[in-house]
Parts: sequence; structure tokens; C-alpha cells
Amino acid sequence: MSVYQCSVCGHIELKGIPEKCLVCRAPQSAFQEAPDALKRAADPANPTEAEQKHIPKIVVVPDCGLLDNCTDVHIKVGEIPHVMTPEHYISYIDAYINEDFISRIWLSPAGCNAAAGLHLKASSGKFTAIEHCNQHGNWIAEVEL
Ligand SMILES: [Fe+2]
Repeated sequence: MSVYQCSVCGHIELKGIPEKCLVCRAPQSAFQEAPDALKRAADPANPTEAEQKHIPKIVVVPDCGLLDNCTDVHIKVGEIPHVMTPEHYISYIDAYINEDFISRIWLSPAGCNAAAGLHLKASSGKFTAIEHCNQHGNWIAEVEL
């Protein structure tokens, strides 16, 4: 997996540099390779408390309750729920199918918990969530649908 980051809005692309940032429309030149921009558990079998508060937890619901032929994904940050205060909060969650960016979900600390849901057309493939904490950076998790 490659990691390229938009220097304007922080958006991360996983396959290559797009013509324009898919979130903020900044030009190609705003992207830089950023291998250290994503955080994971140093030891996945024994995550630290900080890691447990930041690594997205993805729950796949194969049968959508709203639409036919729809796969739901519920994303919460993290195993220990992250706080949502004006000083410390999850500002967005970016979502990817097979490493192609599909959605950014903005979260306001005033009105949102550190969680989001999406209704996917895809019923198979790799789903990736990258959350951004305003104090602790970008954390990634992946699941097979
Ligand atoms: Fe945090």
C-alpha cells in the first residue's frame, strides 16, 4: 500500500496521486508521498490504551435494513470510544473500497459521536477506514466485506 497525502486538507490516497484532491480539489502538486501519515497498533495483539481509542472498529452488516442489495458498514472510533469534545475529537472518517476513496464523513464534536455508517453497493472486497483525530493524527483499519 502506498500513502499519498494532500497538504491542503490531509486527505490520503492509497493507490496514487489523483488529478485533483477528491476532497478539497487541490491540484496534483499538493500531494506528497507520506509513508508515516498512517498509524496502526505497534503490536496488534496487545494494543495500547491510546491505540484502542483511535483504531477504527468496523462492523459489516451484510443485510441492510434500509435498501435492497446494500451492505452496511458501521465504523466506531475505537474499541474504547474516543472523546468528542471541542478540544479533542475525531474530525472525519475517510472510507475506501479496494483502496479507492469513496467517501469522507465529517464529524462535529458538538453533535456527533465518534462513529459513522455507510451504505455500500459493494458486497465484497476490502473496506478501509481512516479516521483523523485533531490531536493524534490518522489511524487506519481494514476488513474484507
Ligand atoms: Fe485522540
